Amino acid sequence: MIEVKNLFAGYKKEPVLRDVSCRFEKGKITAILGQSGSGKSTLVKCFNRIIEDDGGFINGSILIDGEDIFKKKKEELRKEVSIVFQDPLAFPFSILKNISFLLEYHKGLSKEGQRKRAVEILELVGLYDEVSDRLDDKATKLSGGQKQRLSIARSLSVDPSLLILDEPCSALDLKNTLAIEELLVKLKENYTIIIATHNLGQAKRIADNIIYLDEGRIIETAGKDEFFKNPKNELVKIQLEMME
Ligand SMILES: Nc1ncnc2c1ncn2[C@@H]1O[C@H](COP(=O)(O)OP(=O)(O)OP(=O)(O)O)[C@@H](O)[C@H]1O
Ligand SMILES: [Mg+2]
Repeated sequence: MIEVKNLFAGYKKEPVLRDVSCRFEKGKITAILGQSGSGKSTLVKCFNRIIEDDGGFINGSILIDGEDIFKKKKEELRKEVSIVFQDPLAFPFSILKNISFLLEYHKGLSKEGQRKRAVEILELVGLYDEVSDRLDDKATKLSGGQKQRLSIARSLSVDPSLLILDEPCSALDLKNTLAIEELLVKLKENYTIIIATHNLGQAKRIADNIIYLDEGRIIETAGKDEFFKNPKNELVKIQLEMME
C-alpha cells in the first residue's frame, strides 16, 4: 500500500500539486488521469524523489508500506520504485546487456546468473521469443514497442515493489499498446502499478482504480466502474462524454 498525504510539489515556489492525498493498492493498476499540464508526471516523479533532481520540491508525506520515502536512502528508494517513461529507452549496447548491467550492479550476479535472470525477465515481458536469436545484437535496432517492453524489463530487473509508467504507450501503435496493456494486467498480481495517461480508453481497459487530476488537485477518485458509470465531477463528466 502506498499512501500519499497532503502532498504539495512543484518546481519553483508555486506548487503544481496542491494538497494531494491518495492511496495505491498492491495487486491493482491505478490510473492517474488528467489533461495536459494537470500534474500527472509531477506526481509520478515524487515517488522516487526524482523531481528533486529536476530542481523541484516535495512537501507532505509518501509512505510505502508505512515507511516514509524521505527516511530511505535514494538509491534504495529507486530500486523499490521503478519508473518507465514515455519514450522507450534502449541503451546503445546489446539487448542482453540492457538488463544484465543492472543485475551485475545491484545484485552482483555472475555472468551466467545475469544471463539466466535476464532471459527470465525477457520471457516475463513477452520479448524473449522475438529476440532469443539476437540477444547480443544492439538493442537500438529494436522497434518502438519492443524497446518499451525492454524498458519495462529493465525496470523489473531491480525487483521493485512499485512500478510506475508515465504515458508508456503514447509513442506506440495500437498493436504494441495492447501488448503493453496485456503485460501490465499480467504483472499486476505481483506489483503495485501506477500508470499516468491522458488516454481514458486505456484506463477503462486496464485500470482498477482511477485518480483524476485537474490543476494539481484530485477532483475525482473512484474504482474504475464507478468512475466511468457514475462520475460526479462536471469536468470529468464532460471528458467522458467527449470520449463517446
Ligand atoms: N521541469 C519542470 N520545470 C518547471 N515546470 C515544470 C517542469 N515540469 C513540468 N512543469 C510544469 O508543471 C505543470 C504540470 O506538468 P506535468 O508535466 O506534471 O503535467 P502532465 O499532467 O504530466 O501533462 P502531460 O499530459 O502533457 O504529460 C505544468 O504547468 C508544467 O509546465
Ligand atoms: Mg506528463
